[in-house]
Amino acid sequence: MPIVNRVAEFHDDMTAWRRHLHAHPELGFEETQTAAFVARHLAEFGVDELHEGIGRTGVVAVIRGREGNARIGLRADMDALPIQERSGVAHASTVAGKMHACGHDGHTAMLLGAARYLAETRNFAGTVCLFFQPAEEGRAGAKAMIEDGLFERFPVDEVYGLHNWPGMPLGSFGVCNGPAMAASDEFTIRLEGRGGHAAMPNLAADPVTAGATIVQAAQTIVSRQIDPLDNAVISITKFIAGDTFNVIPGEAVLNGTVRTFKPETRDFCERRLRELASGIASAMGLGCEYRYRRGYPPTVNHPNQSVAAGDAAAEIVGADRVDRNPMPVMGAEDFSYMLEARPGNYIWMGTHEGGPVSALHHPEFDFNDNALSIGTSYWARLVERLMSHEPV
Ligand code: NI
Repeated sequence: MPIVNRVAEFHDDMTAWRRHLHAHPELGFEETQTAAFVARHLAEFGVDELHEGIGRTGVVAVIRGREGNARIGLRADMDALPIQERSGVAHASTVAGKMHACGHDGHTAMLLGAARYLAETRNFAGTVCLFFQPAEEGRAGAKAMIEDGLFERFPVDEVYGLHNWPGMPLGSFGVCNGPAMAASDEFTIRLEGRGGHAAMPNLAADPVTAGATIVQAAQTIVSRQIDPLDNAVISITKFIAGDTFNVIPGEAVLNGTVRTFKPETRDFCERRLRELASGIASAMGLGCEYRYRRGYPPTVNHPNQSVAAGDAAAEIVGADRVDRNPMPVMGAEDFSYMLEARPGNYIWMGTHEGGPVSALHHPEFDFNDNALSIGTSYWARLVERLMSHEPV
């Protein structure tokens, strides 16, 4: 597999960086040590500009190649998860209750590798901006960087992201053209009933029965009201009511998530859940309070940039190892905010190599270091292809 030779030469350095980051995980917007580590290395590599504290703990580096107007942004996320690590590896987390269980340590190490390569070779025409973002895990660090003026200060034409994908074999890539990951929203339904004696339900207004009816009925939104060829998930994951066996409680709270790809389907789910919950509550003589909080938008790849990403990946691993039409997933990703602001692509890089798949967000997860040179070679060739200084 044609890894870029120069990148292969510092595979051991990237492995050391990755393992250092793995041993010292930091949660979203707390990545001060991580950001300092990243900035120190970027300065060593001789990047042209280095900016810290973008979107609180984000870091941006600018590398200029030969003369040219093209400007592209490459992004890695830096945050860890609140999970107690059980991997048993030598470089396991040294911080109780925190670990890199999503491979963002690997993403950071690969983008650092790309920075070193690009600053050294400058075999491209134009400007590359490297975005090391905080808080991908639920706290919208990408949005924080954008609100901090990311694209005004670093006006790139296109943005690219990458995520390790343990479900795909090492040496393969997956590139969705169009929706890749879903919008992720959260809702809370509070049912106000009237508590009473469990033996005299006629004197009470029972929020447990009403809540159970809502849980069942909510599943008919996806199965009976949305086009079967569209995609949506409604999961009610929390149902809190009551304290004991012989008392009807006065209140119940339901909590869950809605995942969709299309804006109209998202609007529809938000509205139908409200109508269904308040309708059932009112039919059963209860009050209903409904809150719907919109989270990450869907991650939607742009056509031209997806072709470019797939072509760069094919150059590294071979065309037959790049799936240009993988199934989207209903998980969510805050790179979606960058893709709303600029055209771009978010690619999946396979990391699985023998044995059982170690799942993302699992306490035994560890990024596969054998993927570091592949991901960094992808970044290198993506830049050199998009910003070629050879006359075409
Ligand atoms: Ni992740």
